Amino acid sequence: MSEAPKLFKVTIDNITIDVEPGTTILNAARRIGGEVTPPAMCYYSKLEGSGGKCRTCLVEVAAGSTADPRPMPKLVASCRTTVMDGMVVKNITSDKVLDARNGVVEFLLINHPLDCPICDQAGECHLQDLSYEHGKEGTRFEFKRRTFEKEDIGPYIQLHMTRCILCYRCTYVADQLTDHRVHGILDRGDHAEISTYISKAIDNDFSGNMIDVCPVGALTDKTFRFKNRVWFTKPVNAHRDCPTCCGKVTLWQRGDEVLRVTARKDEWGEVMSYPRPDGSGNQTGWICNTCRFDKKNTSDWVIEGLSNINRHSVISQGKYPGLVTPKETITEVMGGRDPKLLMDIHDVSGVNDPEVDLSKVAGAATSKTFEKKEQ
Ligand code: SF4
Ligand code: FES
Repeated sequence: MSEAPKLFKVTIDNITIDVEPGTTILNAARRIGGEVTPPAMCYYSKLEGSGGKCRTCLVEVAAGSTADPRPMPKLVASCRTTVMDGMVVKNITSDKVLDARNGVVEFLLINHPLDCPICDQAGECHLQDLSYEHGKEGTRFEFKRRTFEKEDIGPYIQLHMTRCILCYRCTYVADQLTDHRVHGILDRGDHAEISTYISKAIDNDFSGNMIDVCPVGALTDKTFRFKNRVWFTKPVNAHRDCPTCCGKVTLWQRGDEVLRVTARKDEWGEVMSYPRPDGSGNQTGWICNTCRFDKKNTSDWVIEGLSNINRHSVISQGKYPGLVTPKETITEVMGGRDPKLLMDIHDVSGVNDPEVDLSKVAGAATSKTFEKKEQ
């Protein structure tokens, strides 16, 4: 019998877990979940080679390993650094990390327009979340933001390069999901931009997935643009028997109208994975353009029910599927007393004599009412 591989112990923000060798710090933190998990703007677990571009996932390694417990001299990108046995990592418990993250957000916003009120990504934009958590109210940048003309890259996708943070995710989608990539990062440094070569159209059955992986509003769905704010729409899980893709989607409805179709996302904002029908592991639930752009009637779909949206998201307002009402504990806290009677005045004061039945007193009660007849 082959031996189970030795697991590595890693401590992140004082929480220790065991993970397989080769796990990155980011993925180890995702196992713990919650605030311990660093934000990730360019890493996407379903896209091979992604990560290492945006630096939002920087963490402090306070001890490298049990064998060599020296701290790492600089903050490291958690999406690209694998854990060692006995490693100690600090994320939200490190002032250095929080300071660096504020700086990274400031850099990301140097050229990013502050057009959230009119941006279709508002409400589900990872940069918007980051700037709420780590952004400064002002900018120290004194030059003009770089701007670009909007570009139609194909019949369904509009590129608003001004909003792009050059995370490279969409190029990985094109490389790994489509049979030929016709767009990429052109030029370098401050001139770098995402574009198709000589405005060639992106035309491929799976090209719409670029919209789902774009962490900001740079790539938007032309069939949904300016139709609605996402928080006014109702996300519903649905499926259809699709010959091209898994056919599992989220329909974004307003009333009975389907305004948008997207792949289903997990808690990290990534497209979900499903077990393959033949039982050979998992497949990522990328969806095809027919499901995304052409099936906009509820009759095209088998509706499963409301999608599980993170209850902290603005989209979940007023719709919390599966929300469990917390156990009512106030009666226990009050020693079994009816919660409506939060305090019994007789417990703390002898002024209102419980022997006096106020309903039987003629007129208003006065201090005389409570005078003790006999001491
Ligand atoms: S268009 Fe979006 S997905 Fe593509 S590099 Fe820019 S930010 Fe990333
Ligand atoms: S998520 Fe790690 S560098 Fe971008």
